[in-house]
Amino acid sequence: MKTKILEIDNINGKSLGQIKKAAEILRKGGLVAFPTETVYGLGADAFNPQAVEGIYRAKGRPSDNPLIVHIADIAALGMLTPEASNDVKILAEEFWPGPLTMVLPKTAGVPHITTGGLETVAVRMPDNRIALELIKQSELPIAAPSANISGRPSPTKGEHVVKDLIGKIDAIIIGDDCKVGIESTVLDMTKTTPTILRPGIITPEQLSDVLGKKVIFENSDITSDITVDFKPSSPGMKYTHYSPVAEMIIFDGAAEDVDFEINRIKQEKEESGCKVGLVEFSGRSYEDAARDFFAKLRELDNDGVDLIIARAVSSADSVGFALMNRMLKAADYKVRRV
Ligand code: TXA
Ligand code: MG
Repeated sequence: MKTKILEIDNINGKSLGQIKKAAEILRKGGLVAFPTETVYGLGADAFNPQAVEGIYRAKGRPSDNPLIVHIADIAALGMLTPEASNDVKILAEEFWPGPLTMVLPKTAGVPHITTGGLETVAVRMPDNRIALELIKQSELPIAAPSANISGRPSPTKGEHVVKDLIGKIDAIIIGDDCKVGIESTVLDMTKTTPTILRPGIITPEQLSDVLGKKVIFENSDITSDITVDFKPSSPGMKYTHYSPVAEMIIFDGAAEDVDFEINRIKQEKEESGCKVGLVEFSGRSYEDAARDFFAKLRELDNDGVDLIIARAVSSADSVGFALMNRMLKAADYKVRRV
């Protein structure tokens, strides 16, 4: 398949024409990758089962892993969920457009292939002008998982999408690099207590403050030690995620001990002919680190690194926790305590 590449840096007369073309592809059941503020998404008409099936095929994604449906207008919620509760309205008002996905009861019209067979649908409004314009022009809710081959690090730059999906989808819109860099917070609003299924940069504290009630993490204790696995019931969470080609190990402990141990292992490995890459975010905010993490994994893979050594980040901070969640998955939970 020939993939159209559309490079767009801002919305103007010319780019609007390109976005309209991409929207037309979506209306005809095609697949279009586009930037969002979190990671790039691979979009299709959420109401067209064949189109949605194409997403699973292009990504090599297991079909029981449900997709997030993207909307550009709060009114579109009515097509997807029977009746939004007050809490849902409050959160939408506060955080949309933005990196919050809400899991809601689905209407009969939402195909099961879109929801991985579930009776719930995950919805979000992305905070990216190109994404919003594309959705608006298509006049459709757009199902879109991250635009990577299943199991690979999520794409935060257009070139990542090109690398993974060229020849497999109809079009790729290349816009700015993603400013958040990790995927949205997924919040299950069908439970009595709102429950986070996937941590992100919108934190439980922020959600709690706005709702005036408790928000919990599923199957996890955020105050606990970082090596405690965070295994939410979001179906996507049981699959291998974010894996770099290289082996990855996380080092955790007091700063000086970690420094010492990283240097020691690095030297030892390099002496035996192994190419070692480091992931560390010392002195940078968790937000900055999260923005660059997936890109760094891909960069190290491109450099042909055999072993990636990462320094643990503090999970006491909620954004640190969300980043650590991705790091643990990328490392397949290999953590060395020093
Ligand atoms: O930031 C994001 O959320 C990005 C951009 C493109 O919007 N999308 C994204 O999609 O990360 P994906 O497919 O890579 O991850 C969607 C996650 C998966 O863990 C999936 O299992 C969960 O959301 N999910 C989707 N629908 C669900 C549902 N009905 N119930 C529970 N979890 C759901
Ligand atoms: Mg993904």
